[in-house]
Amino acid sequence: MQIVMIGTGYVGLVSGACFADFGHHVTCVDKDESKIAGLHEGRMPIWEPGLEAIVSHNVKRGRLEFTTELKPAIDTADAIFIAVGTPARHGDGHADLSYVYAAAEEIARALTRPAVIVTKSTVPVGTGDEIARILRANNAPDGTSVASNPEFLREGAAIRDFKIPDRIVVGAEDDRAREVLHEVYRPLFLNKAPILFTGRRTAELIKYAANAFLATKISFINEVADLCEAVGADVQEVARGIGLDNRIGPKFLHAGPGYGGSCFPKDTLALLQTAEAADVPMRIVGSVVAVNDERKVRMAERVREALGGSLQGKKVAVLGLTFKPNTDDMRDAPSLALIAGLQQQGARVAAFDPVGIDHARSLLPGVEFADDSYSVVDGADALVLVTEWDEFRALDLKEVARRMRGNALIDLRNVYEPEEATRVGLTYRGVGRAS
Ligand code: UGA
Repeated sequence: MQIVMIGTGYVGLVSGACFADFGHHVTCVDKDESKIAGLHEGRMPIWEPGLEAIVSHNVKRGRLEFTTELKPAIDTADAIFIAVGTPARHGDGHADLSYVYAAAEEIARALTRPAVIVTKSTVPVGTGDEIARILRANNAPDGTSVASNPEFLREGAAIRDFKIPDRIVVGAEDDRAREVLHEVYRPLFLNKAPILFTGRRTAELIKYAANAFLATKISFINEVADLCEAVGADVQEVARGIGLDNRIGPKFLHAGPGYGGSCFPKDTLALLQTAEAADVPMRIVGSVVAVNDERKVRMAERVREALGGSLQGKKVAVLGLTFKPNTDDMRDAPSLALIAGLQQQGARVAAFDPVGIDHARSLLPGVEFADDSYSVVDGADALVLVTEWDEFRALDLKEVARRMRGNALIDLRNVYEPEEATRVGLTYRGVGRAS
Protein backbone atom coordinates (compact mmCIF):
# COMPACT_ATOMS: atom_id res chain seq x y z
CA MET A 1 0.00 0.00 0.00
CA GLN A 2 1.11 3.54 -0.69
CA ILE A 3 0.33 5.79 2.24
CA VAL A 4 0.68 9.54 2.61
CA MET A 5 0.72 10.95 6.13
CA ILE A 6 0.11 14.68 6.40
CA GLY A 7 1.60 16.12 9.58
CA THR A 8 4.74 14.81 11.30
CA GLY A 9 3.64 15.63 14.82
CA TYR A 10 3.26 13.03 17.47
CA VAL A 11 0.45 11.03 15.85
CA GLY A 12 1.58 11.39 12.24
CA LEU A 13 5.19 10.48 12.81
CA VAL A 14 4.51 7.48 15.06
CA SER A 15 1.75 6.15 12.77
CA GLY A 16 3.75 6.77 9.59
CA ALA A 17 6.86 5.05 10.98
CA CYS A 18 4.83 2.07 12.25
CA PHE A 19 2.91 1.64 8.96
CA ALA A 20 6.30 1.57 7.20
CA ASP A 21 7.57 -0.95 9.73
CA PHE A 22 4.67 -3.20 8.71
CA GLY A 23 5.84 -3.06 5.09
CA HIS A 24 3.78 -0.26 3.58
CA HIS A 25 5.41 2.57 1.67
CA VAL A 26 4.85 5.81 3.59
CA THR A 27 5.53 9.42 2.65
CA CYS A 28 5.27 11.84 5.56
CA VAL A 29 4.52 15.40 4.50
CA ASP A 30 4.94 18.50 6.64
CA LYS A 31 5.05 22.19 5.77
CA ASP A 32 7.64 22.82 8.48
CA GLU A 33 10.90 22.76 6.51
CA SER A 34 13.14 22.60 9.58
CA LYS A 35 11.25 19.57 10.89
CA ILE A 36 11.61 17.75 7.56
CA ALA A 37 15.29 18.74 7.31
CA GLY A 38 15.81 17.38 10.84
CA LEU A 39 14.07 14.11 9.98
CA HIS A 40 16.28 13.76 6.89
CA GLU A 41 19.23 13.96 9.26
CA GLY A 42 17.68 11.45 11.65
CA ARG A 43 16.63 14.04 14.27
CA MET A 44 13.26 13.33 15.91
CA PRO A 45 11.01 16.34 16.61
CA ILE A 46 9.56 14.56 19.68
CA TRP A 47 10.99 12.37 22.40
CA GLU A 48 9.33 8.97 22.18
CA PRO A 49 11.01 5.71 23.25
CA GLY A 50 11.89 3.49 20.26
CA LEU A 51 10.83 5.97 17.58
CA GLU A 52 14.25 6.94 16.30
CA ALA A 53 15.23 3.31 15.68
CA ILE A 54 12.04 2.54 13.72
CA VAL A 55 12.36 5.71 11.65
CA SER A 56 16.00 5.12 10.73
CA HIS A 57 15.43 1.42 9.94
CA ASN A 58 12.55 2.15 7.57
CA VAL A 59 14.26 5.10 5.93
CA LYS A 60 17.19 2.78 5.16
CA ARG A 61 14.84 0.15 3.75
CA GLY A 62 13.36 2.81 1.45
CA ARG A 63 9.86 2.49 2.89
CA LEU A 64 9.70 5.80 4.75
CA GLU A 65 10.23 9.22 3.20
CA PHE A 66 9.87 12.80 4.38
CA THR A 67 9.00 15.78 2.23
CA THR A 68 7.46 19.24 2.28
CA GLU A 69 5.80 18.66 -1.12
CA LEU A 70 2.34 17.16 -1.05
CA LYS A 71 1.64 16.99 -4.77
CA PRO A 72 4.27 14.49 -5.95
CA ALA A 73 3.56 12.19 -2.99
CA ILE A 74 -0.16 12.13 -3.50
CA ASP A 75 -0.31 10.86 -7.08
CA THR A 76 0.24 7.21 -6.23
CA ALA A 77 -1.41 7.16 -2.81
CA ASP A 78 -4.04 4.61 -1.84
CA ALA A 79 -4.72 6.24 1.50
CA ILE A 80 -3.99 9.79 2.62
CA PHE A 81 -4.04 10.32 6.37
CA ILE A 82 -4.60 13.75 7.86
CA ALA A 83 -2.69 13.89 11.16
CA VAL A 84 -2.29 17.62 11.70
CA GLY A 85 -2.86 19.38 15.03
CA THR A 86 -6.30 20.26 16.40
CA PRO A 87 -5.40 22.51 19.35
CA ALA A 88 -8.10 23.94 21.63
CA ARG A 89 -9.22 27.30 20.24
CA HIS A 90 -8.52 30.17 22.63
CA GLY A 91 -11.61 31.38 24.40
CA ASP A 92 -14.20 28.68 23.76
CA GLY A 93 -12.32 25.36 24.00
CA HIS A 94 -13.57 24.29 20.54
CA ALA A 95 -11.10 22.17 18.56
CA ASP A 96 -9.36 24.42 16.02
CA LEU A 97 -9.93 22.68 12.69
CA SER A 98 -8.25 25.19 10.42
CA TYR A 99 -5.21 22.94 9.80
CA VAL A 100 -7.45 19.96 9.00
CA TYR A 101 -9.56 21.90 6.53
CA ALA A 102 -6.50 23.52 4.92
CA ALA A 103 -5.04 20.03 4.40
CA ALA A 104 -8.32 18.80 2.86
CA GLU A 105 -8.35 21.70 0.43
CA GLU A 106 -4.77 21.11 -0.58
CA ILE A 107 -5.39 17.40 -1.10
CA ALA A 108 -8.46 18.13 -3.25
CA ARG A 109 -6.44 20.42 -5.50
CA ALA A 110 -3.50 18.02 -5.80
CA LEU A 111 -5.38 14.74 -6.40
CA THR A 112 -5.50 13.47 -9.95
CA ARG A 113 -7.14 10.10 -9.19
CA PRO A 114 -9.51 8.99 -6.43
CA ALA A 115 -8.05 8.08 -3.03
CA VAL A 116 -9.29 7.41 0.47
CA ILE A 117 -8.76 10.36 2.79
CA VAL A 118 -8.60 9.42 6.45
CA THR A 119 -8.68 11.66 9.49
CA LYS A 120 -6.35 10.50 12.25
CA SER A 121 -6.37 13.84 14.01
CA THR A 122 -8.91 14.00 16.83
CA VAL A 123 -11.81 15.84 15.22
CA PRO A 124 -15.31 16.65 16.45
CA VAL A 125 -18.33 14.80 15.11
CA GLY A 126 -19.26 16.04 11.66
CA THR A 127 -15.72 17.01 10.59
CA GLY A 128 -15.62 14.16 8.05
CA ASP A 129 -18.82 15.54 6.46
CA GLU A 130 -17.23 18.96 6.17
CA ILE A 131 -14.07 17.48 4.63
CA ALA A 132 -16.24 15.66 2.07
CA ARG A 133 -17.91 19.00 1.26
CA ILE A 134 -14.52 20.72 0.86
CA LEU A 135 -13.36 17.95 -1.49
CA ARG A 136 -16.45 18.35 -3.67
CA ALA A 137 -16.17 22.15 -3.66
CA ASN A 138 -12.56 21.88 -4.84
CA ASN A 139 -13.31 19.34 -7.57
CA ALA A 140 -11.59 16.30 -6.07
CA PRO A 141 -11.83 13.32 -8.48
CA ASP A 142 -15.09 11.34 -8.33
CA GLY A 143 -14.82 8.28 -6.10
CA THR A 144 -12.66 10.01 -3.49
CA SER A 145 -13.90 9.00 -0.07
CA VAL A 146 -13.49 10.24 3.48
CA ALA A 147 -13.05 7.96 6.50
CA SER A 148 -12.34 8.43 10.19
CA ASN A 149 -9.66 6.39 11.95
CA PRO A 150 -8.99 7.82 15.41
CA GLU A 151 -5.79 6.93 17.25
CA PHE A 152 -5.51 5.63 20.81
CA LEU A 153 -1.77 6.03 21.32
CA ARG A 154 -0.37 6.99 24.71
CA GLU A 155 2.70 9.17 24.74
CA GLY A 156 5.65 7.19 26.01
CA ALA A 157 4.06 3.89 24.90
CA ALA A 158 2.93 4.93 21.43
CA ILE A 159 4.81 2.32 19.38
CA ARG A 160 3.56 -0.56 21.47
CA ASP A 161 0.03 0.89 21.42
CA PHE A 162 0.19 1.19 17.63
CA LYS A 163 1.51 -2.31 17.04
CA ILE A 164 -0.57 -4.15 19.62
CA PRO A 165 -3.73 -2.07 19.84
CA ASP A 166 -6.76 -2.98 21.95
CA ARG A 167 -8.82 -2.17 18.86
CA ILE A 168 -8.75 -0.33 15.54
CA VAL A 169 -11.73 1.90 14.82
CA VAL A 170 -12.67 2.75 11.24
CA GLY A 171 -15.61 4.97 10.38
CA ALA A 172 -16.43 4.75 6.69
CA GLU A 173 -19.41 5.43 4.48
CA ASP A 174 -18.47 3.32 1.45
CA ASP A 175 -16.99 -0.06 0.53
CA ARG A 176 -13.88 1.36 -1.12
CA ALA A 177 -12.82 3.13 2.09
CA ARG A 178 -13.52 0.00 4.14
CA GLU A 179 -11.49 -2.18 1.74
CA VAL A 180 -8.49 0.17 1.63
CA LEU A 181 -8.36 0.55 5.42
CA HIS A 182 -8.76 -3.18 5.87
CA GLU A 183 -5.66 -3.62 3.69
CA VAL A 184 -3.77 -0.88 5.50
CA TYR A 185 -4.33 -2.57 8.87
CA ARG A 186 -4.12 -6.21 7.70
CA PRO A 187 -0.53 -6.64 9.03
CA LEU A 188 -1.81 -5.89 12.54
CA PHE A 189 -4.42 -8.62 12.47
CA LEU A 190 -1.63 -11.11 13.22
CA ASN A 191 -1.39 -9.41 16.61
CA LYS A 192 -5.08 -10.24 17.07
CA ALA A 193 -6.09 -6.61 16.86
CA PRO A 194 -9.88 -6.39 16.47
CA ILE A 195 -11.06 -3.92 13.85
CA LEU A 196 -14.38 -2.19 14.34
CA PHE A 197 -16.05 -0.85 11.20
CA THR A 198 -18.69 1.73 11.87
CA GLY A 199 -20.11 4.98 10.55
CA ARG A 200 -17.92 8.05 10.23
CA ARG A 201 -19.73 10.13 12.86
CA THR A 202 -19.72 7.22 15.29
CA ALA A 203 -15.96 6.73 14.89
CA GLU A 204 -15.37 10.42 15.52
CA LEU A 205 -17.40 10.22 18.71
CA ILE A 206 -15.72 7.00 19.91
CA LYS A 207 -12.45 8.89 20.24
CA TYR A 208 -13.92 11.62 22.44
CA ALA A 209 -16.03 9.23 24.48
CA ALA A 210 -12.96 7.05 25.16
CA ASN A 211 -10.81 9.93 26.36
CA ALA A 212 -13.64 11.47 28.40
CA PHE A 213 -14.34 8.11 30.04
CA LEU A 214 -10.67 7.64 30.97
CA ALA A 215 -10.58 11.19 32.35
CA THR A 216 -13.72 10.34 34.34
CA LYS A 217 -12.00 7.37 35.94
CA ILE A 218 -9.12 9.62 37.01
CA SER A 219 -11.28 12.42 38.45
CA PHE A 220 -13.42 9.79 40.17
CA ILE A 221 -10.50 8.09 41.90
CA ASN A 222 -9.03 11.48 42.81
CA GLU A 223 -12.24 12.40 44.63
CA VAL A 224 -12.22 8.99 46.31
CA ALA A 225 -8.63 9.75 47.38
CA ASP A 226 -9.75 12.97 49.07
CA LEU A 227 -12.47 11.05 50.87
CA CYS A 228 -9.96 8.38 51.93
CA GLU A 229 -7.82 11.05 53.55
CA ALA A 230 -10.82 12.43 55.41
CA VAL A 231 -12.06 9.08 56.72
CA GLY A 232 -8.77 7.21 57.20
CA ALA A 233 -8.97 4.79 54.26
CA ASP A 234 -6.36 3.90 51.62
CA VAL A 235 -7.09 4.77 47.99
CA GLN A 236 -4.57 2.26 46.63
CA GLU A 237 -6.48 -0.53 48.34
CA VAL A 238 -9.83 0.91 47.27
CA ALA A 239 -8.60 1.05 43.64
CA ARG A 240 -7.43 -2.55 43.86
CA GLY A 241 -10.63 -3.63 45.54
CA ILE A 242 -12.86 -2.11 42.89
CA GLY A 243 -10.50 -2.78 39.96
CA LEU A 244 -10.62 -6.54 40.46
CA ASP A 245 -14.24 -6.35 39.37
CA ASN A 246 -13.99 -7.02 35.62
CA ARG A 247 -16.74 -4.54 34.94
CA ILE A 248 -14.57 -1.76 36.41
CA GLY A 249 -11.04 -2.95 35.54
CA PRO A 250 -7.79 -2.06 37.32
CA LYS A 251 -6.42 0.56 34.93
CA PHE A 252 -6.61 4.34 35.18
CA LEU A 253 -7.38 4.26 38.87
CA HIS A 254 -4.15 5.85 40.11
CA ALA A 255 -4.89 8.88 42.23
CA GLY A 256 -2.53 11.78 41.69
CA PRO A 257 -2.21 15.51 41.03
CA GLY A 258 -4.80 15.49 38.21
CA TYR A 259 -4.50 14.55 34.55
CA GLY A 260 -2.59 16.68 32.05
CA GLY A 261 -1.18 16.29 28.56
CA SER A 262 -2.22 17.25 25.10
CA CYS A 263 -5.32 15.05 24.96
CA PHE A 264 -7.58 14.72 28.00
CA PRO A 265 -7.83 18.44 28.84
CA LYS A 266 -8.39 19.42 25.20
CA ASP A 267 -10.70 16.56 24.25
CA THR A 268 -12.97 16.82 27.29
CA LEU A 269 -13.49 20.53 26.56
CA ALA A 270 -14.18 19.86 22.88
CA LEU A 271 -16.70 17.14 23.78
CA LEU A 272 -18.50 19.58 26.06
CA GLN A 273 -18.72 22.02 23.16
CA THR A 274 -20.13 19.38 20.83
CA ALA A 275 -22.66 18.34 23.47
CA GLU A 276 -23.73 21.90 24.09
CA ALA A 277 -24.12 22.58 20.37
CA ALA A 278 -26.32 19.48 20.11
CA ASP A 279 -28.30 20.66 23.14
CA VAL A 280 -27.37 17.53 25.10
CA PRO A 281 -25.37 18.83 28.07
CA MET A 282 -22.91 16.26 29.44
CA ARG A 283 -22.91 17.08 33.13
CA ILE A 284 -20.61 14.25 34.15
CA VAL A 285 -17.87 15.37 31.77
CA GLY A 286 -18.35 18.97 32.97
CA SER A 287 -17.73 17.83 36.55
CA VAL A 288 -14.71 15.75 35.51
CA VAL A 289 -13.11 18.87 34.02
CA ALA A 290 -13.94 21.05 37.04
CA VAL A 291 -12.65 18.46 39.52
CA ASN A 292 -9.38 18.19 37.60
CA ASP A 293 -8.84 21.94 37.19
CA GLU A 294 -9.44 22.60 40.89
CA ARG A 295 -7.25 19.69 41.90
CA LYS A 296 -4.20 20.94 40.03
CA VAL A 297 -4.46 24.31 41.72
CA ARG A 298 -4.98 22.72 45.15
CA MET A 299 -1.72 20.75 45.05
CA ALA A 300 0.28 23.81 46.19
CA GLU A 301 -1.95 23.94 49.28
CA ARG A 302 -0.85 20.43 50.23
CA VAL A 303 2.74 21.60 50.24
CA ARG A 304 1.85 24.69 52.29
CA GLU A 305 0.04 22.57 54.87
CA ALA A 306 2.96 20.13 55.05
CA LEU A 307 5.25 23.08 55.76
CA GLY A 308 3.20 24.35 58.68
CA GLY A 309 0.96 26.83 56.87
CA SER A 310 3.44 29.17 55.15
CA LEU A 311 5.67 28.90 52.09
CA GLN A 312 7.37 32.23 52.67
CA GLY A 313 11.14 31.83 52.35
CA LYS A 314 10.88 28.05 51.99
CA LYS A 315 12.74 26.02 49.40
CA VAL A 316 10.65 23.37 47.63
CA ALA A 317 12.28 20.71 45.46
CA VAL A 318 10.15 19.27 42.64
CA LEU A 319 10.88 15.90 41.08
CA GLY A 320 9.35 15.42 37.63
CA LEU A 321 7.93 18.18 35.43
CA THR A 322 6.43 16.50 32.35
CA PHE A 323 2.72 15.57 32.44
CA LYS A 324 3.72 11.92 32.79
CA PRO A 325 6.90 9.81 32.49
CA ASN A 326 8.61 8.85 29.20
CA THR A 327 7.75 12.03 27.37
CA ASP A 328 9.18 15.53 27.16
CA ASP A 329 5.67 16.95 26.83
CA MET A 330 4.82 19.75 29.27
CA ARG A 331 1.35 20.54 27.93
CA ASP A 332 -1.10 21.05 30.81
CA ALA A 333 1.35 19.33 33.14
CA PRO A 334 0.23 19.41 36.80
CA SER A 335 3.73 20.72 37.67
CA LEU A 336 2.91 24.05 35.99
CA ALA A 337 -0.02 24.93 38.29
CA LEU A 338 1.79 23.54 41.32
CA ILE A 339 4.97 25.55 40.79
CA ALA A 340 3.07 28.76 39.98
CA GLY A 341 1.12 28.32 43.24
CA LEU A 342 4.28 27.69 45.26
CA GLN A 343 6.05 30.73 43.83
CA GLN A 344 3.03 32.99 44.35
CA GLN A 345 3.11 32.12 48.01
CA GLY A 346 6.76 33.01 48.38
CA ALA A 347 8.52 29.66 47.92
CA ARG A 348 11.80 29.19 46.05
CA VAL A 349 11.47 26.25 43.68
CA ALA A 350 14.20 23.91 42.43
CA ALA A 351 13.28 21.18 39.94
CA PHE A 352 14.64 18.19 38.12
CA ASP A 353 13.22 16.14 35.25
CA PRO A 354 15.10 13.48 33.25
CA VAL A 355 14.08 14.81 29.80
CA GLY A 356 11.62 17.69 30.26
CA ILE A 357 13.95 20.45 31.43
CA ASP A 358 14.62 21.95 27.99
CA HIS A 359 10.89 22.40 27.35
CA ALA A 360 10.23 23.45 30.93
CA ARG A 361 12.79 26.27 31.02
CA SER A 362 10.71 28.80 29.10
CA LEU A 363 7.49 27.81 30.89
CA LEU A 364 8.81 28.05 34.42
CA PRO A 365 10.56 31.37 35.05
CA GLY A 366 12.34 31.69 38.37
CA VAL A 367 12.82 27.95 38.84
CA GLU A 368 16.34 26.65 39.55
CA PHE A 369 16.92 23.57 37.42
CA ALA A 370 19.10 20.87 38.94
CA ASP A 371 21.24 18.27 37.16
CA ASP A 372 20.00 15.22 39.02
CA SER A 373 17.46 13.94 41.50
CA TYR A 374 19.75 14.34 44.52
CA SER A 375 21.25 17.79 44.06
CA VAL A 376 17.72 19.17 43.59
CA VAL A 377 16.93 18.50 47.25
CA ASP A 378 20.02 20.22 48.69
CA GLY A 379 18.82 22.54 51.45
CA ALA A 380 15.13 22.00 50.60
CA ASP A 381 12.37 22.23 53.18
CA ALA A 382 10.08 19.96 51.17
CA LEU A 383 10.40 17.48 48.35
CA VAL A 384 7.39 17.04 46.04
CA LEU A 385 7.27 14.10 43.63
CA VAL A 386 5.05 15.16 40.73
CA THR A 387 5.89 12.79 37.84
CA GLU A 388 6.63 9.13 38.50
CA TRP A 389 9.69 8.61 36.28
CA ASP A 390 11.16 5.14 36.92
CA GLU A 391 14.47 6.57 38.04
CA PHE A 392 12.76 8.31 41.00
CA ARG A 393 11.30 5.09 42.34
CA ALA A 394 14.49 3.73 43.83
CA LEU A 395 15.69 7.06 45.23
CA ASP A 396 17.83 6.62 48.33
CA LEU A 397 15.54 8.37 50.81
CA LYS A 398 18.20 8.33 53.51
CA GLU A 399 20.50 10.37 51.27
CA VAL A 400 17.56 12.66 50.38
CA ALA A 401 16.82 13.27 54.06
CA ARG A 402 20.49 13.98 54.73
CA ARG A 403 20.64 16.64 52.02
CA MET A 404 17.40 18.41 52.94
CA ARG A 405 17.03 21.23 55.45
CA GLY A 406 13.46 20.27 56.35
CA ASN A 407 11.80 16.88 56.27
CA ALA A 408 8.54 17.06 54.29
CA LEU A 409 8.07 14.47 51.53
CA ILE A 410 4.93 15.04 49.47
CA ASP A 411 4.45 12.09 47.17
CA LEU A 412 1.76 13.02 44.64
CA ARG A 413 2.00 9.63 42.87
CA ASN A 414 2.15 7.26 45.86
CA VAL A 415 5.49 5.90 44.74
CA TYR A 416 7.25 5.65 48.12
CA GLU A 417 6.52 3.48 51.13
CA PRO A 418 5.34 5.70 54.01
CA GLU A 419 7.10 3.45 56.55
CA GLU A 420 10.45 3.74 54.78
CA ALA A 421 10.16 7.52 54.57
CA THR A 422 9.31 7.75 58.25
CA ARG A 423 12.20 5.46 59.14
CA VAL A 424 14.74 7.86 57.59
CA GLY A 425 13.19 10.85 59.35
CA LEU A 426 10.96 12.25 56.60
CA THR A 427 7.38 13.32 57.22
CA TYR A 428 5.45 11.53 54.51
CA ARG A 429 2.27 12.67 52.82
CA GLY A 430 0.90 10.70 49.88
CA VAL A 431 -2.40 10.96 48.03
CA GLY A 432 -5.42 9.27 49.60
CA ARG A 433 -3.40 7.08 51.94
CA ALA A 434 -2.46 7.12 55.58
CA SER A 435 0.63 9.25 56.34
C1 UGA B 1 -4.29 9.58 26.24
C2 UGA B 1 -5.00 8.23 26.08
O1 UGA B 1 -4.60 7.33 27.12
C3 UGA B 1 -4.69 7.62 24.72
O2 UGA B 1 -5.44 6.42 24.54
C4 UGA B 1 -5.08 8.64 23.62
O3 UGA B 1 -4.78 8.15 22.33
C5 UGA B 1 -4.32 9.91 23.85
O4 UGA B 1 -4.65 10.43 25.15
C6 UGA B 1 -4.74 10.88 22.76
O5 UGA B 1 -5.93 11.25 22.72
O6 UGA B 1 -3.93 11.17 21.87
P1 UGA B 1 -1.80 10.35 26.93
O7 UGA B 1 -2.39 11.72 27.07
O8 UGA B 1 -0.54 10.18 26.16
O9 UGA B 1 -2.88 9.34 26.26
O10 UGA B 1 -1.48 9.81 28.39
P2 UGA B 1 -2.18 8.91 29.50
O11 UGA B 1 -1.27 7.81 29.83
O12 UGA B 1 -3.55 8.56 29.13
O13 UGA B 1 -2.20 9.91 30.74
C7 UGA B 1 -2.95 11.13 30.72
C8 UGA B 1 -2.90 11.80 32.07
O14 UGA B 1 -3.66 11.07 33.03
C9 UGA B 1 -1.49 11.93 32.67
O15 UGA B 1 -1.37 13.22 33.25
C10 UGA B 1 -1.45 10.85 33.73
O16 UGA B 1 -0.56 11.13 34.79
C11 UGA B 1 -2.89 10.86 34.21
N1 UGA B 1 -3.31 9.59 34.84
C12 UGA B 1 -3.43 8.47 34.09
C13 UGA B 1 -3.62 9.56 36.19
O17 UGA B 1 -3.53 10.59 36.90
N2 UGA B 1 -4.05 8.39 36.74
C14 UGA B 1 -4.17 7.25 36.02
O18 UGA B 1 -4.59 6.22 36.60
C15 UGA B 1 -3.84 7.28 34.66
